Amino acid sequence: MQLTPAIEPADLQTEREPAKSYAAVRAMTESLCAPLATEDYVIQSAPECSPAKWHLAHTTWFFEHFILQSLARGYLPFRTCYGYLFNSYYETVGTFFPRSKRGLLSRPTVEEVFQYRAHVDRHMHDLLSAAGSASSELELMRRLTLGLNHEQQHQELLLTDIKNLFALNPLRPVYHAVPHLHAKAVPLAWMEFSGGMQTVGHADVGFAFDNETPRHRVHLEPFALASRPVTNGEWLEFMQAGGYSAPELWLSDGWRTVQQSNWQAPLYWERTDEGWGYMTLGGFVTVDPEAPVCHVSYFEADAYARFAGHRLPTEFEWEVAASSLPLEGNFMESRLLHPSARTNASRQFFGDVWEWTSSAYMPYPGYKPLTGSLGEYNGKFMVSQLVLRGGSCTTPRSHIRSSYRNFFYPPDRWQFTGLRLAR
Ligand SMILES: [Fe+2]
Repeated sequence: MQLTPAIEPADLQTEREPAKSYAAVRAMTESLCAPLATEDYVIQSAPECSPAKWHLAHTTWFFEHFILQSLARGYLPFRTCYGYLFNSYYETVGTFFPRSKRGLLSRPTVEEVFQYRAHVDRHMHDLLSAAGSASSELELMRRLTLGLNHEQQHQELLLTDIKNLFALNPLRPVYHAVPHLHAKAVPLAWMEFSGGMQTVGHADVGFAFDNETPRHRVHLEPFALASRPVTNGEWLEFMQAGGYSAPELWLSDGWRTVQQSNWQAPLYWERTDEGWGYMTLGGFVTVDPEAPVCHVSYFEADAYARFAGHRLPTEFEWEVAASSLPLEGNFMESRLLHPSARTNASRQFFGDVWEWTSSAYMPYPGYKPLTGSLGEYNGKFMVSQLVLRGGSCTTPRSHIRSSYRNFFYPPDRWQFTGLRLAR
């Protein structure tokens, strides 16, 4: 029988209760691993995915390297070689093990990785318990907040990578028994906006990543956004109309990718005797035509928008529309771990699926990356990727906000990515 992970909202009150916030986020990551068997922790199903064991160790290394080794007097690394194994991409920290080979690491064992987590947690607890509110602690709090948000990003990646791993297994493992919801999508309506001079970017209240700043003005023409994401039923119409074999709908790079990869449907979709089905974290099920389409690339989203006679929103149109909406949605804590047709107060701008925008992932005017090695966190990826907004059904609620910028390459589709039309 599959264990059900205990997913409770972990609202981050890092500055008021640092030790409690740290413990809550770390415990959440481990609870997400509760349904896994030991073998599940080790395999890397694709070069862009990481084994669960690596996520557990890498997030721990982040606290060990950026906090304990620099701010805790006398701290010695748990194992010096872990810096090489579990540094992801920080060139200025040192060399690191190739990303595409993470699944070849049978050692350290899963048990040793949990021991590593416990060791770092003990030292983090001691450091945070002794911390006061003096200005000398500001750097500790800044790095702690970043480390916790980093770990929340890896909670989502852990789930998306487990889904990818289970999807290629003919046994169709069930990660988590998902309740079946028979909701209907709301009829598509258009939300009209007058445009004009608007202010976007993080407003300086609470945490934000450096890539959300500085806040700045943009000019928008009048625009309209759909009242919900595109559904699987609408995607089936695109497929049945020959969308995947009509070059006129596709960008050149997209059309080449469709042909080379033989795409005929979103990732995880499979034709069965009963029609289309797809893999979910709750196992293999029939495609729900009412639910938001998910696991589509930017190329597919762009082609669909052209097919529908519309376009994708820019990230600024999306942010202007979302900034007045409540932060409500189908997030990780709803325990569905799958997009739902059910509408909500945010009109699904938040949760369900990350929404592709047509905006290139670029620095905002006056952008300054964090100082030191942490400057590598976001800034060096600002080329050749597109911005996605709003979070997904595997994003922790306390992790998302209207200014949040996620980014992936145009062919990527293993994340919970969908789209909302604009005109
Ligand atoms: Fe990371």
